[in-house]
Amino acid sequence: MVEQQIPADIEALAVNENAEIVLARRYYRKDIDGNPTEDATQLFWRVASAIAAEESKYEKTTASTEILAKDFYSMMANMEFLPNSPTLMNAGTPLGQLAACFVLPVGDSIEEIFDAVKHAAMIHKSGGGTGFSFSRLRQKDSRVGSTGGVASGPVSFLRIFNTATEQIKQGGTRRGANMGILRIDHPDIMEFIRAKEREGEFNNFNFSVALTEDFMKAVENSEDYDLVDPHNLEVVNTLNAREVFEILVQKAWEKGDPGIVFLDRINRDNPTPALGEIESTNPCGEQPLLPYEACNLGSINLSIMLAEDEKNGISVDWDRLRNVVHLSVRFLDNVIDASRYPLDRITEMVTTNRKIGLGIMGWADMLFQLNIPYNSQEALNLAEKVMEFIQAEGRAASKQLAKERGAFPAYKDSIFGERDLGPYRNATVTTIAPTGTLSILAGCSSGIEPLFALSFARHVMDGDKLVETNPFFKTALEERGCYSEKLMDAITEKGTIADIDYLPEELRKVYVTAMDIEAEYHLKMQAAFQKYTDNAVSKTVNVPHEATVDDIRTIYWMAYEQGCKGVTVYRDGSLQSQVLCTEGSK
Ligand code: CDP
Repeated sequence: MVEQQIPADIEALAVNENAEIVLARRYYRKDIDGNPTEDATQLFWRVASAIAAEESKYEKTTASTEILAKDFYSMMANMEFLPNSPTLMNAGTPLGQLAACFVLPVGDSIEEIFDAVKHAAMIHKSGGGTGFSFSRLRQKDSRVGSTGGVASGPVSFLRIFNTATEQIKQGGTRRGANMGILRIDHPDIMEFIRAKEREGEFNNFNFSVALTEDFMKAVENSEDYDLVDPHNLEVVNTLNAREVFEILVQKAWEKGDPGIVFLDRINRDNPTPALGEIESTNPCGEQPLLPYEACNLGSINLSIMLAEDEKNGISVDWDRLRNVVHLSVRFLDNVIDASRYPLDRITEMVTTNRKIGLGIMGWADMLFQLNIPYNSQEALNLAEKVMEFIQAEGRAASKQLAKERGAFPAYKDSIFGERDLGPYRNATVTTIAPTGTLSILAGCSSGIEPLFALSFARHVMDGDKLVETNPFFKTALEERGCYSEKLMDAITEKGTIADIDYLPEELRKVYVTAMDIEAEYHLKMQAAFQKYTDNAVSKTVNVPHEATVDDIRTIYWMAYEQGCKGVTVYRDGSLQSQVLCTEGSK
């Protein structure tokens, strides 16, 4: 690693306590004894300067590399925007793999299957997550021509991917995450749907069933549908669509797995159909990609995109948001060039489409400050307004970059080229990620999720426990003279103030948690953001332990009708261990 001289006018950064713990464990560069060789200021300067350095290769650049490096630095140091974890970990280092999301094809031969296992290992090692469709694999017990034997089938091979992942820690820090997808018309679909029944099986995978429009219509009409051998395209069986859908709903009720993705809908929004069909998403579902494609993400912290004046009180700071969107798009486009990908084919795909995924975090915190309940029409309206703005400004920034640097190479054959909408620098600009770690670094609520609890014990790595109270909630209690240790203990136990009826009504309306929010509003929020997001939206529809199978069915159906690209439901207490849990949760 080249030692970076930090300019004298760069202000040293003090990050919050949780952020320091996470940075020290996972993000700081370390020497061979495992001691950090950098602090937060050095980390953000390493990233800012490495990403700004990419400017110098573009002749028509309007920005000076040095000024841009400082702008990138302050944007990150102020926690206005953070790129995805691999960029923070690897920018300006010899590894240099900066993307979080990859999709790899799995072909129907032993060679191709093990190529995919190997490529996934290379990606995990560098901190990226992988998604795969297993739909091309011939079904269990069908004939294998070369040996006269019988095939093992997708679920059996999935076990190999899961075990390989188990052994490889990403960048020496965390284990790889995977998405496994199977089409609803694959002959082994029932085995796949039931594959995660046993606790701990396939624990390095999220599973999603890819649903088609034909299947959804068959569910509506309670018709049979065909299971097709992917190898020879023969119909091998038929099932009743409604019965299969019911089992899917039942499994989601039991374990939250598998989720569902609407594959036709995802492909309707595929910006480059000439380059192939989208068959999978990344591990958390927010980024559909073509085989061998990768994407880097970044998130804007909405909790600080607010301004206050005497006349209007607190409102969204649209000017600041616009500036941060433009600078973030430039940053993420540079990340594509700065990144070194584990395979030449990936480099080729990535530089052809130049997809980026700019999203948000801190949405629940923004609503708290604006005194808007998450479960209200006002919140849904603002969600659309904010995301419409980010999408429009993000595209404007991408257009500006195209003027300076050229359109993404596949532009002419893309849906934008055909409609003459561009040219854009990037085939996609917006994605809403979970921001699991980024939100801890920024000290804000994650992605577009409501708070899991207003006060809770966070179980961090190695069994450490930290009690955390949402800062806006704490201030609201203090301002109203309600704050007391005893009250806080009660809230940490429950997570929510919904039943604490001596607290003011307006507080209980605004400070709602995931469990207080009706499933319908979780879903509507996802749909509101999806409306203005090029890629997809990471969101969990949380329902209480008491929710019924009927409730889950309603949610699945609403997701379909409201234009979501997929849905994940989690019923409280349906898994033995939860990463975040309130003290009293089941
Ligand atoms: O906050 P951070 O940048 O670490 O990640 P995130 O927003 O929670 O997740 C974004 C994407 O990063 C996921 O969808 C995965 O593609 C990838 N990821 C991963 O590969 N391994 C993890 N342990 C977490 C995330």
